[in-house]
Amino acid sequence: MQHLVDTDNFSDAQIAQLLHDAKNFKSQHPPKLLRDKLLVTLFFEASTRTRSSFEVAAKRLGASVVHLDPSRSSTKKGETLEDTFANLCAMEPDGIIVRHSDNKTPKILANMQMTPVINAGAGNYAHPTQALLDLFTMVEYFNGDIKGKTIAIVGDIVSSRVASSGIRLMRRMGMNVLLVAPEQFMPTSDLPQYKNLEDVMDRVDVIMSLRAQLERHETELFEDYDDYARQYCITKERMKDRDILLLHPGPVMRNIDISDEMLDDPRCKVLTQVKNGVFMRMAILKLLLLDA
Ligand code: CP
Repeated sequence: MQHLVDTDNFSDAQIAQLLHDAKNFKSQHPPKLLRDKLLVTLFFEASTRTRSSFEVAAKRLGASVVHLDPSRSSTKKGETLEDTFANLCAMEPDGIIVRHSDNKTPKILANMQMTPVINAGAGNYAHPTQALLDLFTMVEYFNGDIKGKTIAIVGDIVSSRVASSGIRLMRRMGMNVLLVAPEQFMPTSDLPQYKNLEDVMDRVDVIMSLRAQLERHETELFEDYDDYARQYCITKERMKDRDILLLHPGPVMRNIDISDEMLDDPRCKVLTQVKNGVFMRMAILKLLLLDA
């Protein structure tokens, strides 16, 4: 039984297969490969993109999806996570897609070996499907040639599961990763670290902006979001006419992470990421439910 806790669950050949399948799903009407399959989504944290993207992906491939809302489930009566999961597994789904604030939850559930577990975001540890859809978006943009490209990850890196999974996958794919953040948003890392965005602007092929999660930090670093934005917001003044691909996993905080003007700029591919997310998740479901 294969799970997706983080992208290291996939071999290089499987990642190549995912990129190939996602591209095919994008270019032609997908067959109902998962017609007889049933998925359960179990999201203990809010989501706009990931949950709906999985549902769209599953339905485009003919699968059925049941959503359990933990805020209206017997979790509220004290049922443990493991018991909730085991009871859902007793209904014999073909996989469970889970999001949780705890880093270890997907691994704990996967170790129960009851059904394939797909991590839809866990704490600040991993968000593998986001990393894979970001990889697909970069591979598409650079016509497959991402090895040696340089990406700057900008913002609240230490709180970000997108950054954690993304860094591991991008390094594995041969990209150069630079971290740009104020000291308290910077994780412990052997990667090159910068406080000033201006110091990297002439060196990067890609910028991945992250949501400023000031509310997660105990120490007040900035007086307010405007103060943060003055240093880290991706604006036209900062980008100038440089040929840089601009990404953001969402939700974007307008004029704090990225300016209104840059969100409308053709170099910004935020909605392409969302669109590609459906095709990549179709490829992931095919791999885990059919091929593996
Ligand atoms: N990128 C992402 O995980 O967005 P959601 O939190 O809306 O799912």
